[in-house]
Amino acid sequence: MWVYLNDRFVPKEEAVVSVFDHGFLYGDGVFETMRAYQGRVLQLSEHLMRLGRSASSLQLPLPASPSHLAELVRASLTRNSLQEATVRVTVSRGEGDIGLDPALCKRPTLVIIAQPFQPYPPSLYEEGVSVIVVHTRRNLAEAVPPHVKSLNFLNNILAKMEAKAAGAYEGLLLNHAGAVTEGTTSNIFLVQRGRLRTPSLDCGILEGITRSLVLRLARELSIPSEERVVTADDLFNADECFLTNTTQEILPVREIDGRVLADGRPGPMTRRLHTSFRSGLDRFLDRV
Ligand code: PDD
Repeated sequence: MWVYLNDRFVPKEEAVVSVFDHGFLYGDGVFETMRAYQGRVLQLSEHLMRLGRSASSLQLPLPASPSHLAELVRASLTRNSLQEATVRVTVSRGEGDIGLDPALCKRPTLVIIAQPFQPYPPSLYEEGVSVIVVHTRRNLAEAVPPHVKSLNFLNNILAKMEAKAAGAYEGLLLNHAGAVTEGTTSNIFLVQRGRLRTPSLDCGILEGITRSLVLRLARELSIPSEERVVTADDLFNADECFLTNTTQEILPVREIDGRVLADGRPGPMTRRLHTSFRSGLDRFLDRV
């Protein structure tokens, strides 16, 4: 396995970064996780644009232009002979003396890891997953902005530990006002009386690439959709509920806090959107 590190491909064993890297010392950096289908990355430019937005929120200069990064992502797939893959692009503040000041770091560290995609068990999609509303609240947007996909993932990790301890597949985080935000690594949708609903961006969430794609598919299929405040009560009363992210696509939710939704089977809207996602994928794959 070859990993791209700063300016070249190196064997996995040699892909090491300094203990003085501020990504390691302080979680100072940003990342993206992408998915390749048949050797082509889904929504590549959208992922790279989000990486750019995350980096600029942290005043972190990207070490390469978006088009050069796109080339490097494609090269990571070919170098590793990968077709079905995940690609993680990480940019940290770089190596520097101990201290918070980003000016201590001369140049950012760039790492691109392309790995074979590990398919999720089909039963997750056939039966749906269980989620809980965790006690950990989503970071306040004015503290650590949730729209930045940063290396500082402790908020999500604490929520994930809670969910795991409760035997749940995913944990949903509320914001400071008690509204639903998102899962630890996923956005959430619900269906109520034929309408698709998802927390709006101002609830304090990551603007998921899959979330945007699902909203686009809903428009194309004339499914009414709303981005708005979603309460935990809305979730319990939903006809259907599903999670979205890059690697899981559209994952049905069977139960929330032990309450089974509807008949406990993935609902028709969830299945329709996932079918449309899969069959229309080609339009959104990188064209070289
Ligand atoms: N995570 N919300 C959070 C907090 C996330 O970390 C993610 C993705 C999403 C979904 O975003 P997208 O559709 O762009 O994947 C929402 C990725 C998979 C990760 O953690 O690697």
